[in-house]
Amino acid sequence: MTTGEPCFTARHWRILASHWHPVALSRHLGTTPLAVTLLDQRLVLHRGISGVAMAAVDRCPHRGAALSAGSIDNDLLVCPYHGFRFEPSGRCVLIPSSPDLMPPAGLQLQVLNVREAYGLIWIRLLSDGCADLPHFDEWSAPEYIHVQPEPVDWATSAGRQMESFFDVSHFAFVHRDSFGESDNTSVPPYDVVATFDGFQFDYVSTVSNFPLGLKHLNPPGFLWSRLFRVHLPYCARLTITFPCDGLLHILNVATPLSPVSTRVFSLICRNFDPDLPLQAAINFNSLIFAEDRRVVEQQDPKQLPLDLRQEVHVPADLASLTYRQALHAMGLA
Ligand code: FES
Ligand SMILES: [Fe+2]
Repeated sequence: MTTGEPCFTARHWRILASHWHPVALSRHLGTTPLAVTLLDQRLVLHRGISGVAMAAVDRCPHRGAALSAGSIDNDLLVCPYHGFRFEPSGRCVLIPSSPDLMPPAGLQLQVLNVREAYGLIWIRLLSDGCADLPHFDEWSAPEYIHVQPEPVDWATSAGRQMESFFDVSHFAFVHRDSFGESDNTSVPPYDVVATFDGFQFDYVSTVSNFPLGLKHLNPPGFLWSRLFRVHLPYCARLTITFPCDGLLHILNVATPLSPVSTRVFSLICRNFDPDLPLQAAINFNSLIFAEDRRVVEQQDPKQLPLDLRQEVHVPADLASLTYRQALHAMGLA
């Protein structure tokens, strides 16, 4: 870590480490070691012979080398420095400089809980965490088309990124080049409802989700429902109901690499327009996220203020107020 960068407090780290976070796309993980970061912790991932994803802290217990710079040989992770070999359980099974020596018990990698779901590799750093993965059943439903853009790193906190995902009063200003309607700024009141792992709200407005060039497709007077489901701390799903009852789901997961650096994973699926090229959906999504990112990376401070007195709130901010209170209640203030 660069000197001067903020780090997580021990308490925040423990809370966040008890939750699952995606760290890579499944399609990026093969049989060569892959380095990723989560909560300031460097990790090494690889896929075993059986195809199962494995993860460990990216540090050799011998002399601290980065195992992600090593290799895999017959399901064994080989350290690049002195060639020690580690089996999937993390136990060292060979010390090449003393091949007849039984490796001491201390030569043990810290292996981590891994899950693979929705095309993502998820890690939980603490094994005693109680949280489960968010549900996203539509991802595997046959009537849906899936799009999985590349993750994007944002120079901000996971909280700021998340809040921008479900902020409903910025469309007319931030999304002028995608779907925003500059003359449609008023936010009708909406209600927020608590759920077992967060909260949800259905934001109903006349702001259409059609891109600028296709606004003429919007049926006059159509009310657009944007149902946001927030799974604390850093996952949210948006379901947009299109005219003709088409459903578009976008899962936004903000993985905290550090307190001010976030890798954003997004999954998109829809049950309409089967012939529209997937690349068009990826491009539209990228444009929207780039518009958000340009503003959000400049917010000051980068960490989301959980003391409600630090920023000023208006009625449209009910969801963000709820989010800040919920993170505060989790102990993340
Ligand atoms: S540092 Fe890994 S084998 Fe020596
Ligand atoms: Fe946005």
